Amino acid sequence: MTSTPRTYHVKSFGCQMNVYDGERMAELMAGEGMVATDRADDADLVILNTCHIREKATEKVYSDVGRLRKREDGTQPMIAVAGCVAQAEGAEIARRAKVDVVVGPQAYHRLPELVRAAQAGQLALDTDMPVTSKFDVLPTRRKVAPSAFLTVQEGCDKFCTYCVVPYTRGAEVSRPFAAIMDEARALVDAGAKEITLLGQNVNAWTGEDGKGRAVGLDGLIRALDALPGLARIRYTTSHPNDMTDGLIAAHGDVEKLMPFLHLPVQAGNDRVLKAMNRSHSRDSYLRLLDRVRAVRPDVALSGDFIVGFPGESEAEFADTLSIVDSVGYAQAFSFKYSPRPGTPAATMEDQIVANVMDERLQRLQTALARDQFAFNRASVGRRCAVLLERSGKLPGQLLGKSPWLQSVHVIGDAAIGDVVMVDLVDAGPVSLKGALV
Ligand code: 5AD
Ligand code: SF4
Repeated sequence: MTSTPRTYHVKSFGCQMNVYDGERMAELMAGEGMVATDRADDADLVILNTCHIREKATEKVYSDVGRLRKREDGTQPMIAVAGCVAQAEGAEIARRAKVDVVVGPQAYHRLPELVRAAQAGQLALDTDMPVTSKFDVLPTRRKVAPSAFLTVQEGCDKFCTYCVVPYTRGAEVSRPFAAIMDEARALVDAGAKEITLLGQNVNAWTGEDGKGRAVGLDGLIRALDALPGLARIRYTTSHPNDMTDGLIAAHGDVEKLMPFLHLPVQAGNDRVLKAMNRSHSRDSYLRLLDRVRAVRPDVALSGDFIVGFPGESEAEFADTLSIVDSVGYAQAFSFKYSPRPGTPAATMEDQIVANVMDERLQRLQTALARDQFAFNRASVGRRCAVLLERSGKLPGQLLGKSPWLQSVHVIGDAAIGDVVMVDLVDAGPVSLKGALV
């Protein structure tokens, strides 16, 4: 590839932080005068923004690259691999997959120069974790969806024994308060009504507010609460150990903070939690939820689960099912344990065989789906605000989110970006029907 790429396509995999990074990469390329395409097959430059959290991610990148190299029209795009696979594989991926650019999650602000280097036939690889932050040099946000992401914290120091994040995203780092507030204002000016604060351990965020006082995530949320034009605040993902008294209190008295909490538990058995190095117990987790419910009785709860962690017995897995029963999650994510190279759990004895893992995942997902449907049914009859985010399939239909992060569809005279009052009139397993008030 020698001619200058004029069009680009960003394909993001994995978590919401990657979605955010992907948006910022797109803004960077647009800042270079390039134009976005909807399809990877039409772009001169394809950025694969990859995820490394579970198996097959790396293989998927190689097969994606292979497909892009065999386009029907015979054209060859420039290919950049970004994200956590780039961080983990480094030069190996450039060598094996013959991609043009390899850039890690902490270095993607250098994409424009890396693209130029690749064009000039030079090695275009950057997986450094520099001290100066990419955020300082990324362009201002100008056009965003009604519900926008804002990364406030990156990295993780928790070292759960199954997880690659501490290795691919590095140590916990909080962005400065003022930079976050500036970006939040820019997002609101660009049309955002809701901001979801993102971090691998978002509730570990700390900083100094405008008056030089040390604050935690609750302080940041309270400052955002005062931002004119912003209607809703959310945050994700949290670690139970970083749920401070202040943050719990914020759920009770910050009006714009939505009644929703994503708090991964991973497993319901104390021996397994200990082997995972989770540093919370089943009981301490449940007590934490009780405290959140005490200040915000209608809070919708969400979690992450891993089945088949090495050594997990049938009885220990039953503890995961029973914690699900006692919490009653409004929604959740559940995964089969996937051994990640370099993590302690990958070399633990007693890895669980595939069919046991499949069967446990199925039982867990059946329970979670049952509870999600029950939560939705219990919402019928409620009147609530819905932020309309996009149009639906039917004529005049709009899709939005309830305060409890349920998808709600309405038909009527309203526009994307509106916060409308709705009566929830019917519930399905994963969405609700609303009637405009
Ligand atoms: N295998 C399966 N699931 C994992 N997660 C993290 N690492 C692994 C792994 N090795 C899950 C956890 C985490 C979510 C983002 O991904 O549940 O909370
Ligand atoms: Fe991974 Fe655990 Fe850190 Fe979450 S808290 S990113 S699961 S190491």
